Amino acid sequence: MLKRKDLVGLIDLSREEIAELLDVAGEMKRHLVAGEKNLSYLKGKTATILFYENSTRTRTSFELAAKYLGATVINIAAGSSSVAKGETLVDTGKTLDAQLNDFLIMRHPMGGAPYLLARTVKAGVLNAGDGMNEHPTQALLDMLTMKEHFGSLDGLKVAILGDIKHSRVAKSNLFGLQKMGAEVYMYAPETLIPKGIDKLGAKLCSSREEALENADVVMGLRIQLERQQAGNFPSLNEYAEFYGVNGKLLSLAKPNAIIMHPGPVNRGVELTGKVIDHEKSRIEDQVFSGIAVRMAALKLLNDYREYTK
Ligand code: CP
Repeated sequence: MLKRKDLVGLIDLSREEIAELLDVAGEMKRHLVAGEKNLSYLKGKTATILFYENSTRTRTSFELAAKYLGATVINIAAGSSSVAKGETLVDTGKTLDAQLNDFLIMRHPMGGAPYLLARTVKAGVLNAGDGMNEHPTQALLDMLTMKEHFGSLDGLKVAILGDIKHSRVAKSNLFGLQKMGAEVYMYAPETLIPKGIDKLGAKLCSSREEALENADVVMGLRIQLERQQAGNFPSLNEYAEFYGVNGKLLSLAKPNAIIMHPGPVNRGVELTGKVIDHEKSRIEDQVFSGIAVRMAALKLLNDYREYTK
């Protein structure tokens, strides 16, 4: 059993815990495919969604996941809450705790914010992305998508190309995939590679060709225009030409390779439109896997809350 109050980062999870999350996510997916969207694992529980940054996929899939499990769901947009009046994160957490919330699902621009919240509230905290740090449920849904295609993650070559420096998805995938036996190769302009990521196990490549050669998974990452400082690369057109993935480069990957992207995509920048819409693309499967993974995370955290009552 996942013995945790919170799910904050894959850096904290063991291989066994990740395997359990993926197994339960597989079960949840079977429920969804069978049209079973009124489960009762979280009946009588409340989940509050607290997003300090924009989102389409993560926010909606957490909401659907909690509702499909039978929870009551509250949505708080930071701009319309007392945060806008200067309330601190810890005080917001205490307020939500006093209302007997069972789960707080938070996205925040500051890395580490969910750790602070988790330490100060009784509710279970789920990190829906914290700054440039981690996005654990995104990496779990990415791993579920890979596992469904390949059967296992052991020995896979996963090539990640794009804005790695600003990417919480890259870090969570690096932590999770290595624990599950995959190898993570990375390629980006030097200015978009975080210092020391090779010390965490990433295999840094000196060309797109080296990254893509015999890859099982080709994962593009969004160029995060909102987090760029001037000068990381000359222009989006030049990024696309010299660092993006096109159909010709894709042919270097294994015949059974798949294309992934966490979204939102800058179409024609990190991946060409043809690559995004390619028959090997699993981008829409990733979105569907997202609901199942978030159902699994909520169910397992709830099981532990019940067990420790
Ligand atoms: N992948 C991802 O986190 O997408 P959103 O920003 O739309 O949630």
